[in-house]
Amino acid sequence: MPKNNLSRFHQVKSALSYFCRSKTIYQVHSPLVFEFTEKLFEGDRQYYIFEKIERLRKQLLANNNTVQITDFGAGSLTGNKASKPIKDIAGSALTRKQFCELLFKIVNHYRPSTIVELGTSLGLATIYLAAARPASSTVYTLEGNPHVAAVAKQNFQKLELKNIELILGQFEHTLQSTIDQVPKLDLVFFDGNHQKQPTVDYFNQCLAKAHEESIFIFDDIYWSKGMTEAWNEIRQHERVSHSIDLYQFGILFFHKKTAPTEAHTLIPHKWKPWSAGFFG
Ligand SMILES: C[S@@+](CC[C@H](N)C(=O)[O-])C[C@H]1O[C@@H](n2cnc3c(N)ncnc32)[C@H](O)[C@@H]1O
Repeated sequence: MPKNNLSRFHQVKSALSYFCRSKTIYQVHSPLVFEFTEKLFEGDRQYYIFEKIERLRKQLLANNNTVQITDFGAGSLTGNKASKPIKDIAGSALTRKQFCELLFKIVNHYRPSTIVELGTSLGLATIYLAAARPASSTVYTLEGNPHVAAVAKQNFQKLELKNIELILGQFEHTLQSTIDQVPKLDLVFFDGNHQKQPTVDYFNQCLAKAHEESIFIFDDIYWSKGMTEAWNEIRQHERVSHSIDLYQFGILFFHKKTAPTEAHTLIPHKWKPWSAGFFG
C-alpha cells in the first residue's frame, strides 16, 4: 500500500479509537484538566481579533500566486511539487480555526512569555500565538522554506504584530541556538517535520529549558503511525505530569509530580459526528 494510503488508514483507525476512548468534561476529575476543558477547550468565548485573522486566512485561500516548496522529509499527504499556489498551502498546511483559537486561549490563560513554534508556514498559527499577548510575549517561529517565510513576514506586518521573531533555516540548525538564547521555554508548539525520530529529538532538546509551568503542544499526533509512536513515547516521559489528547493536538504539562502521570483523552461534549471539522 502506498505511504499516503497507509497514513490515511492510520488516521481513520485512530479517529475511531479516539472516539471510543475519549471523555467529555462531565467525566473529568483532575482539577488542571477540568479547568483546561471548561475554560479553553469547551469555552466558546470569541475575541475581536479572531475575525481579523480569519479574514487573512480567506485571502490566503484565494491567493493564486505560487511559492517554491522545500520537502524536509515528512512530505505531504496532498502531493509534493516543486512549487504550489499559496491557496493550496493555506488549505492543507495551516492549523484549522478551531485549534488556532485554542492556541490563542492557551496563551491568554496561562500567560507564557517565551513561545517557540517549529514550522511557521504562512504564519497563521504564529499570529494567533502572538496576538494573545502582544505586549508581554515573544514568539520565536522557525521555518526552513524562505519562500513561505517571506509570505508569513508580510502577514505579520498586515496584523501589525511586533512580538514575532522569524528564524530561517532547518530546525536541525536553528532549534538549538534558539533554545540557547532564551532563558526558559514557556510554551512550545511543534508543527513541522512530522516524523517520529525528529519529533522525539526536538522534544528532548526543548526539555532542557522546560520548567513546571511549561506547556508543549504537538500538532497532528495521528497524522501517521510514526507521529503516534512519537506521541506515545513523549507523553510517558518521566517529567510529564499531565497529557491531554485532543486527536488533533497532544498537550503536555510538567507540574511537580506527586502522583503518576495523568493521561486524558478529551472530546467536546457537544461534538456530533456530523458537526463540522473536528477531525479535519
Ligand atoms: C504544517 S506547516 C506549519 C503550519 C503553521 N504552524 C500553521 O499552523 O499556521 C509545517 C512547516 O514546517 C516547515 N518544516 C518542516 N520540516 C522542517 C525542518 N526540518 N526545518 C525547518 N522547517 C521545516 C515546512 O516548510 C512547513 O512550512
